Amino acid sequence: MKISIIGSGYVGIVTGIGFAELNNEVIFVDVDENKVDLINSGKPPIYEKGLEELMQKNKERYYATMDYDEAIMNTEVTFVCVGTPSKEDGSIDLKYVESASKAIGKVLANKKDFHIVVVKSTVIPGTTEDVVKPIIEKKSGKKAFEDFGLAMNPEFLREGSAVNDFFNPDRIVIGVKDERTKSILEELYKPLNCPKLVTDIKTAEMIKYASNAFLATKISFANEIGNICKKLGIDVYNVFKGVGLDHRINPAFFKAGIGFGGSCFPKDVKALIRKAEELGEEPKILKAVIEVNERQPLKLIELLKKHIPNLRGKKIGVLGLAFKPDTDDIRESRAIPIVEALLREGVEIIAYDPKAIDNFRKLFPQIEYASSAEDVIAKSDAVLIVTEWNEFEKLNYNGKIVVDGRRVEKAMREAKIYEGVCW
Ligand code: UGA
Repeated sequence: MKISIIGSGYVGIVTGIGFAELNNEVIFVDVDENKVDLINSGKPPIYEKGLEELMQKNKERYYATMDYDEAIMNTEVTFVCVGTPSKEDGSIDLKYVESASKAIGKVLANKKDFHIVVVKSTVIPGTTEDVVKPIIEKKSGKKAFEDFGLAMNPEFLREGSAVNDFFNPDRIVIGVKDERTKSILEELYKPLNCPKLVTDIKTAEMIKYASNAFLATKISFANEIGNICKKLGIDVYNVFKGVGLDHRINPAFFKAGIGFGGSCFPKDVKALIRKAEELGEEPKILKAVIEVNERQPLKLIELLKKHIPNLRGKKIGVLGLAFKPDTDDIRESRAIPIVEALLREGVEIIAYDPKAIDNFRKLFPQIEYASSAEDVIAKSDAVLIVTEWNEFEKLNYNGKIVVDGRRVEKAMREAKIYEGVCW
């Protein structure tokens, strides 16, 4: 099949290259010339495990352009993979979805063949039919579900394992209305072996929000139980081992610690809260999920102060800046409130991350960045573990004060003074 992908962020690029690997021809469209050049030279615009190899392997099956016309005219299906950031009040900002819809509509006005538009960006239920559809219809002068196909197909890719997730999904959700679009999308996804759920468009949009909100809830729940366990002298990891053995519950996403970050959970839960309120609902659980998550990283500082009551002038090491391991992404990373709190306490910070230093430096140019994790250990009075990178399991923590937000076992065994955030 011939596919165009609007937006070459991590969802767009992984999805597009995944489709290329499945023998489709893919054209990426992006407004950022740098990204277009990178993709055309076979280089990923973001760091994602296994992606560069796949890009090299499939070089003949894709290219990138800034020209919507060229991409849409020469393909049968367009996936909208642009970002949906938060506005100040937490609600979803649809400006990129709207501008992509306008651009698609303009091209469709001149296209004779049936074309399918698939929204992959995470959008609040109702957006595809109430925002995307009228824009494309107005600009193209055509009717959705008759003259062109329209669908919503949420993504469930995790950063860091997105390539693997593309080829081995737990499920594929296809939100459609017209039969033609349904059968073309089923054909496209045929090579992927997993349950496929066909729903209406709004349901597909909600499945994505409900999934992310539930996973975020699991984490905040684990953290709340963890905070209680810590006071009771109980190891919360053993508790959730026991809890997770119940097949109705499942063990994943119960890793207690300093909470969730990333470009999705915080943003999506907040957007769902705003939407619920707009509808006259009070989403108490979702609000508590965010509150627990905002308080959790600060626990690390409280625990540090237990051992070094006066932090002013002390040198504190921060291990890990990315919002999770195997990514250079620092969006909503728990390292941000932690570094802010340390700066308020007047400490000197020395930080290290295997991939995210360049991104973090843009936000915090005033702190020192070490060239290795060993350097952080050697030069600091105490160490905070913020991201559980594998290499932190190989460090020597002998003689150190370590406050651990992510459960690094070696630190737990070796440190002179060790505090886990919830254990
Ligand atoms: C998340 C979802 O897992 C994907 O299914 C979804 O497609 C994606 O959002 C999205 O909406 O695009 P991602 O943000 O890449 O993926 O990262 P996760 O692996 O889910 O981790 C999110 C955060 O939760 C990280 O900060 C991680 O450290 C934290 N976390 C995760 C915990 O604190 N405890 C856990 O048990 C699991």
